[in-house]
Amino acid sequence: MKRIIIAIDGYSSTGKSTLAKKIAKQLGYIYVDTGAMYRAVSLYAYEKGYIDKNSFKVDKLISDLDHINLEFKYNDALGYSEIYLNKKNIEQDIRTLKISNFVSKVAAIPEVRRKLVEQQQVMGLERGIVMDGRDIGTVVFPEAELKIFMTASAEKRAQRRYKEMIDNGNDVTYESVLENVNSRDLLDTTRSDSPLIKAQDAIEVDNSGLNVNETFDSVYQQVKREIS
Ligand code: DC
Repeated sequence: MKRIIIAIDGYSSTGKSTLAKKIAKQLGYIYVDTGAMYRAVSLYAYEKGYIDKNSFKVDKLISDLDHINLEFKYNDALGYSEIYLNKKNIEQDIRTLKISNFVSKVAAIPEVRRKLVEQQQVMGLERGIVMDGRDIGTVVFPEAELKIFMTASAEKRAQRRYKEMIDNGNDVTYESVLENVNSRDLLDTTRSDSPLIKAQDAIEVDNSGLNVNETFDSVYQQVKREIS
């Protein structure tokens, strides 16, 4: 069987990471959540006081980039890798609405993207990897053997994200989550560096009406075709 690179891009809360984790587990591949990396840099900027609702000290963040160390460590009990920022596990801290509200601004900075894309490309050197994000099939691995582009309606995505956040003990309203989904869609698709677009050779999957297993089954058909 061929060891390939699988790039999963798409809008926020389309279930990219759930799908990517399931495929990686099935194939024994490494799974990399690149959104977690942008979120980690955002958390760093927030904790340093470089970003808040009204201001963003972009230069300060750029000059600190060499001090931001990101690592993924596999958690056996969970069955996937968790992200560490300067040796601290921040897997939960990066999933709050506060960080979600800052992350598109941080992800729009070319210097940040350059650093993270470089690390992502190194992770894929031996192939056998499923990576999800916004620019994986277009910028990080334009040569990926399989590219999936996930979409779903904004309302459906906000419902899913809202439920996930409530289940994780976050105190949020559905309206605030929908607003975040819409504003991130706008920022992610209109930024000048690596905007979210479907790669020409990507397969589009709209899972508004599909559950997790149905989404997996439809994509896994493509995976099997590609690795055999
Ligand atoms: O997948 P996510 O929602 O955790 O991603 C968080 C943000 O990071 C998202 O709004 C856009 C940005 N991002 C990006 O610009 N490029 C990637 N490869 C992954 C995420």
